[in-house]
Amino acid sequence: MSEPRLVAACRRQPVDYTPAWFMRQAGRFLPEYRAVREKHTLLEICAEPELTAEVTLQPIRRFEMDGAIIFADILLPLVPMGIDLSFIPDVGPSIANPIRTAENVAALRPVDVDEALSSTFMALSLVRAELPADTALIGFAGAPFTLASYLIEGGPTRNFIKTKSFMYHEPETFRTLMEKLVTLTIAYLTAQAEAGAQVLQLFDSWVGYLGQEDYRRYIKPHSAAIFEALRHLDCPTIHFGVGTGELLEDISEAGGDVIGLDWRVPLDEGWARVGEGKAVQGNLDPAVLYAPHDFIRERVQQILTRANGRPGHIFNLGHGVTPATPMDSIHVVLDTLRSSTGAAVG
Ligand code: CP3
Repeated sequence: MSEPRLVAACRRQPVDYTPAWFMRQAGRFLPEYRAVREKHTLLEICAEPELTAEVTLQPIRRFEMDGAIIFADILLPLVPMGIDLSFIPDVGPSIANPIRTAENVAALRPVDVDEALSSTFMALSLVRAELPADTALIGFAGAPFTLASYLIEGGPTRNFIKTKSFMYHEPETFRTLMEKLVTLTIAYLTAQAEAGAQVLQLFDSWVGYLGQEDYRRYIKPHSAAIFEALRHLDCPTIHFGVGTGELLEDISEAGGDVIGLDWRVPLDEGWARVGEGKAVQGNLDPAVLYAPHDFIRERVQQILTRANGRPGHIFNLGHGVTPATPMDSIHVVLDTLRSSTGAAVG
């Protein structure tokens, strides 16, 4: 095989078995990750390329997944813009100086990504050198809406009221903010591809909170600008969101070679909305990993039945692995995939 099966599947080429990786595969459900976290903060791990590479490779060593996602966080590139970011245990990200006014938006600094985010690029090169040739290296960034929601809310939210009211009251200022995030994200993803990433995923995790009208008016053109700017790279792209069943046509139109599907939409119905010319990624409910093994096998099999052997399916969860997930469940998923779609289980 000349390129990893995950990359081939992004291009909708036939593969020997359905490639799989898991969002949040490098993280707290792994004891070896928790051991590193006892000695280092999340920000320290991300700032030190050797540590970043180590935690990126942990799930690959244990499970032989088809993709390794570089360890980082979607919010890190906001720090050199002038954002005061911290991670609070059991709460999540917290921004001490949230964006609430036109002056706040104007004060966000342009970022020289090569200088400010060099540790991630160094880590990508280190990981690429260590990875087996058939394992794809995945780079990523947050999409403008999801980033803006953290910037405006200052932390996690249940209803996105601050973000939406900013968008409705000050559409021009909101647009300026989105444009700054687009510029940053294009530079960041392009540099990741140059540093060795073979696939790029744009995380628009919270976009499913928007109605179609708002997505089209305030968000879609900005996400589309990012995919348009990445087209020349010859590096396939994945466009991901949660709760996006009603937005799939628009998300697909905005761009991405592969469109993420969560568990709320049956894979074949979601694929039909995404359109024939695209690949899909998904869509096991992360909670199914807590079910009995036979139940997990059945659900994986159902997804494969709905994919029906069409080229262009990347297996993943509909959202990230949660911290208490039993590790055996990951083996059950991978063994089911590999025995059902062709290859010998090794
Ligand atoms: O294995 C991987 O997926 C790579 C690493 C990765 C992290 N964050 C490390 C991390 C990735 C891809 C992300 C992306 C990310 N970060 C997203 C998009 C994906 C998604 O889940 O929707 C979002 C929304 C964030 C923002 C963020 N960072 C949140 C909401 C949290 C806290 C939530 C939690 O699970 O505690 C973080 C912290 C964070 N980033 C952790 C990890 C492994 C957990 C905290 C820790 O280890 O200290």
